[in-house]
Amino acid sequence: MFEVSATSAGATPPPNPLPQGEGEDGAAAFLLPLREEDRWRGFAPQKEQCMTQPETPPREGETERTLPSEFYTSAEIFALEKERIFSREWVCVGRESDLPGPGDSLVVDVAGESIVVLRNEDGQLRAFYNVCRHRGAQLCGTNLPGKVAPAGVVGGKRIRCAYHSWTYSLDGELVAAPHLSGADGIDRSKYSLYPVGADAWAGFAFVNLTPEGAPSLAAQLGIIPRRIARYPLDRLRAGHTIRYDVAANWKVIAENYNECYHCGGAHPELCSVVPAFRQNGGAGLDWDSGIPHRDGAYTFTMTGTTDRAPFPGLDEDEKTRHKGELVYPNLFLSLSCDHAAAFILHPKGPDRTIIDCLFLFAPEEIARNSFDPSDAVEFWDITNRQDWAICESVQRGIASRPHRYGHYAPMEDMSLDIRRYVGERLGLPGT
Ligand code: FES
Ligand SMILES: [Fe+2]
Repeated sequence: MFEVSATSAGATPPPNPLPQGEGEDGAAAFLLPLREEDRWRGFAPQKEQCMTQPETPPREGETERTLPSEFYTSAEIFALEKERIFSREWVCVGRESDLPGPGDSLVVDVAGESIVVLRNEDGQLRAFYNVCRHRGAQLCGTNLPGKVAPAGVVGGKRIRCAYHSWTYSLDGELVAAPHLSGADGIDRSKYSLYPVGADAWAGFAFVNLTPEGAPSLAAQLGIIPRRIARYPLDRLRAGHTIRYDVAANWKVIAENYNECYHCGGAHPELCSVVPAFRQNGGAGLDWDSGIPHRDGAYTFTMTGTTDRAPFPGLDEDEKTRHKGELVYPNLFLSLSCDHAAAFILHPKGPDRTIIDCLFLFAPEEIARNSFDPSDAVEFWDITNRQDWAICESVQRGIASRPHRYGHYAPMEDMSLDIRRYVGERLGLPGT
């Protein structure tokens, strides 16, 4: 009667608003300058290694163009990104430790969809659209006034709808529908909750809003887990969290994370601990081996030192150098020998992104009476606020009438990955 197939849970893709036109000055001019020898740089099929390094310099006097400005400002393109990126890729939603045991649950917003993430009775991660299969009431977060029975995840074993009390198992099966049993009953197997993919890596919980036919989380992550395998991320815990509300497009923030051309001017405190970031405009940084600190420094704190122990198992470089990863589409990792800073992006609109910055430490460090994360937090917070101020400035500037696209300097070539990543998923011609 009100059967809806699982695959129809996703919204109908909006019409493609991408520029199809021509003209050196038009937005579609972005599509024109790709030379055959450049195709791999910006638009080659995804390589195992997500962050590519340029193998050839751009032609003298030329720079690579960014995506056109409307990719950072248009509500239509943001809607397309929600459908084709954030509703189809594995998206980080938090830490597994937020769901420590069976029956624990979270409600998260992913691409505008309310999603219930929980652990079933076997302790496995599960996720569902927060929608009752009866008449569509939201299952979790609907609290009626008065002496009503509890709704949402109740008793650590069931999900009960506040409206007509349809009740589901933690695996999403309809297990009770009052007054609809017996000969006049319904086939409960047809009314399971709309499924969402759920998986975890490195202690981070991920969901996929279109799980049927989606590649595995491991396939999406590619080589990243192997590159940072010695960091014990899965067992780290958040010792502090800061939420930032940034008036900038998520790609502006990702592009900023991808380059250190800006570091010398924007981050004096950071560069005093990591002078390599300001050398040659951040060109030639060896992220595979890690970025060295100044002499005597080995971590991202104001002093470059800490009383926390380094993670066991790091190699000699990792004990004194800094590593980073951009895990598309919404997780950035910055790795020091004693802590990790994780940035989880929640795009809210073309010009707004909420960022949760988690400071992850070994649980035995957090358990110490003397544990004080402020040396890392203070250092990161000033660096973050410098970054967000710059990103908000970029967002305002690219909305200016004459600005049709920007340019990547050669040391910003890793941002070609963002151009490729978005272009491939949004179906830009030539990708
Ligand atoms: S809408 Fe949930 S039981 Fe009716
Ligand atoms: Fe920065």
